[in-house]
Amino acid sequence: MPATVVIGTQWGDEGKGKIVDLLAADADVVVRFHGGNNAGHTLVVNGEKTILNLVPAGVLHPGRVCMIGPGVVIDPEVLVGEIDALRARGYLADDAWLRVSEQAHLIMPYHRAIDRARERLRGTEAIGTTGRGIGPAYEDKVNRSGIRVGDLFDEVGFREALRTNLREKNAYLEALLGEAPLAFDAIHERYLGYRERLRPFLADTGAELRAALAAGRRVLLEGAQGTMLDVDHGTYPYVTSSSCVASAAAAGAGLPARALGRVVGIAKAYTTRVGGGPFPTELTDALGERLRADGDEYGATTGRPRRCGWFDAVVVRQAVAFSGVDGIALTKLDVLSGMDPVRMCVAYELGGRRLELPPHARHAWPRVKPVYEDMPGWRESLGGTKSLDDLPGNARRYVERLAVLVGAPIALLSIGAQRDQTVRLADLF
Ligand code: IMP
Repeated sequence: MPATVVIGTQWGDEGKGKIVDLLAADADVVVRFHGGNNAGHTLVVNGEKTILNLVPAGVLHPGRVCMIGPGVVIDPEVLVGEIDALRARGYLADDAWLRVSEQAHLIMPYHRAIDRARERLRGTEAIGTTGRGIGPAYEDKVNRSGIRVGDLFDEVGFREALRTNLREKNAYLEALLGEAPLAFDAIHERYLGYRERLRPFLADTGAELRAALAAGRRVLLEGAQGTMLDVDHGTYPYVTSSSCVASAAAAGAGLPARALGRVVGIAKAYTTRVGGGPFPTELTDALGERLRADGDEYGATTGRPRRCGWFDAVVVRQAVAFSGVDGIALTKLDVLSGMDPVRMCVAYELGGRRLELPPHARHAWPRVKPVYEDMPGWRESLGGTKSLDDLPGNARRYVERLAVLVGAPIALLSIGAQRDQTVRLADLF
């Protein structure tokens, strides 16, 4: 059976963590294939909150194999901390349940320092990165000076690579960014410590994953961020540094393209974004405040307040097209209860022209105007919803209209953070 891919269809924070956790009940292997600890998944199981930044969201199901694939950038300090925190609560009882790709690139202290210093110097033009060193780590990967997890096990090679990189990074940090240089010995020693901590999990994850698929295991590929943060197809340059569309899952996990099967697109019933960049349906008024408060829209990784606005079907339509989304998991519909009317952006207008898909030119974005469709709201709480028929009529009409506008059926509705606050409408495997 081919693998199921889960991706975000907006600017991230769509609620992928909860959906992956749910689907992981029916999976054998759950794999992260891109990004790093810029991602933050908040899971609520039996009233207990878990925030995951690197370990796949299948980890709360004992026995699932969680893989961190070659396309991920790993901050080992964060990974080791996450493993310890999970273990302290009884998860990850067996080393074999976590596999870490020897090909994944390492985030080094100089990546974090460069990321933060650059953002500071960008001032009002800041991208609003998470400051985790993601962009600089991917830069080194692409320019072929990166250090990979497996390199830690080559004592001489690691020492040399670190020395060479640090010489260059320190010159850059000092001369151009006005930062203090970093000391070799401290980093070297710390990373050798991480090497020992990661040793039990080191694997050729691609080979293991292909073998698992060949043996008929069910595989879930867990995307991070969202399509509009994709480095090629998002709101460049206000994007992350990896590819967030479903097709990236094959390369990032080490699978042939034909191994990808169903694609689940996660969409929030309204829109949020953290950091800078265009956001046509943003609400900067009391309604936006209300969405932020009712939806608890604060970053799981950085605690930053998220910008909030109406549902933007143009953005999700593009995500559906790019990733071949088979079904939408619609999250946080409950947050819209009590709003009247509820609005959806159905198209953009740019210079008198109607656009059904987003523009690509950076200079076009600030000029697009959302074209809205208003729908009557609903007052009822959605607490007891067990099927589509339980939804208030107006909520149901909102969901049905949304599916038509984005071009994909609704496969799942999430109406709260708990596992059981979910209505499944289709089989997602
Ligand atoms: P970076 O990935 O830290 O370089 O940040 C680049 C942009 O992506 C910034 O606007 C971040 O706020 C955004 N971003 C990165 N990861 C996430 C995420 O998991 N959720 C939402 N936004 C994210």
